[in-house]
Amino acid sequence: MKESVGIGLLGMGVVGGGVARVISQKGHHIQHLVGAPVAIEGILVRDVGRARSFDAPASLFTTNPNDVLHNPKVDIVVELMGGEYPALDYIQKAVSLGKHVVTANKEVMAKHGPDILAQAAKKGVQVLFEASVAGGTPIIAPLLRDLVANDVLTIHGIINGTTNYILTKMAQEGSDFGDVLKEAQELGYAESDPTNDVEGIDAAYKLAILSTLGFRARVSDADVYREGITKLTGLDFQYAKELGYAIKLLAIAAKVDGSIQVRVHPALVPDHVMIAKVDGVLNAVEIQTDLAGRVLFHGPGAGDMPTTSAVVADLVDISRNLVRNVVAAPPLRLSRDIRIRPMSELETKYYMRLNVAERPGVFAQILTVLGRLGISIASAIQKENDEEAQRAEIVLMTHRAKESSVQEALRLISDLDVVNSIGNLIRVEEWD
Ligand code: NAP
Ligand code: HSE
Repeated sequence: MKESVGIGLLGMGVVGGGVARVISQKGHHIQHLVGAPVAIEGILVRDVGRARSFDAPASLFTTNPNDVLHNPKVDIVVELMGGEYPALDYIQKAVSLGKHVVTANKEVMAKHGPDILAQAAKKGVQVLFEASVAGGTPIIAPLLRDLVANDVLTIHGIINGTTNYILTKMAQEGSDFGDVLKEAQELGYAESDPTNDVEGIDAAYKLAILSTLGFRARVSDADVYREGITKLTGLDFQYAKELGYAIKLLAIAAKVDGSIQVRVHPALVPDHVMIAKVDGVLNAVEIQTDLAGRVLFHGPGAGDMPTTSAVVADLVDISRNLVRNVVAAPPLRLSRDIRIRPMSELETKYYMRLNVAERPGVFAQILTVLGRLGISIASAIQKENDEEAQRAEIVLMTHRAKESSVQEALRLISDLDVVNSIGNLIRVEEWD
């Protein structure tokens, strides 16, 4: 039996500070679970002089990664720096030195997860990454263990807490985008570069991870079609509400005719669907499978303590094995590569908001373009007349149509003299 487990922290910001605090404050509980004490043996940061949310002994801090990676007392390297490099280099180095790894880094796992796991399997070490998707909400372990007998058919997720927080405040309080983003940053939800949140990059990383695990095929973030939330306006929230929908940044993966469709974009979600009611920093992932049917995971998607909860669970898992000298089986076997469907092959319903000239025959011209491309209209409303400026807003809801046809229609409609601008195009996600 090993008598203690040593932890090396790479990064001590929002999440690292939480992990250090919990290892200290819940030391007895963790020791009881593991069967031996678990202690931090080194902490890598950029700036040792910075004030931190948790007061760790100054002797533990270093700016030299080798002090942690090569420290013989460190059994588990916990990477909480974020970003692709140097995080990837340090994770690979740790594995090559026979150390176990816990990481919350979705970018690294989305881009290099299968290679890291293969390297870890060869070295007989564990690399766990529960905190990389949905913060404190368990989703990685359930996909790898509890749902392992299933074939995954679809994944629908709200997997970025920052954008869900922003969209909720915009919808419910009419808040300004920039103000709410600032709040989300202050609360520790946002990435160090919040562009990753608001442009859907973070959600695309997470969807790539979930898809790789769910479909047991390599899916990278580059395979994911992506649109962020920056084009949404108060008008879209107002019209969506009138039409009976919420607007959410959805991450969607689906098996279609043996290929996989993976996309992240704002979507109109019917009010009555559970995911439409997931508000604030909460995340939700609905997995539809052949055996279990629809399973919903719901909980906090960001923030220091929820994320710490997931990191410490991984730490305890590895520590238990270490103390008992158990070598864990590799968690994932990928099948052959699978075709990723191009976005042009998507078929769904659409919401279109157009700003047009207020004069006779405008509707007819737009409907002619849509009709020529086989796009049929489910409902149409004219909103917000500005009689003085002779402008009006038209909101169209289509029946199911092909993405390629809708994009072509938008191009032709924007060329019409009677159309001032395309306000927005939002896909509508229907549930059976
Ligand atoms: P953070 O607050 O920005 O902290 C990053 C830490 O890493 C800081 O301590 C920083 O040092 C250190 N660091 C960064 N680059 C470094 C480098 N090149 N060399 C040495 N140290 C470096 O980030 P965070 O919010 O804790 O996020 C950490 C990870 O968890 C990211 O992968 C993130 O995506 C993931 N995550 C975060 C959340 C959340 O809610 N925040 C939730 C789930 C997953 P200094 O302190 O000296 O600057
Ligand atoms: N910035 C991320 C989010 C952190 O808002 O969801 C959790 O991964």
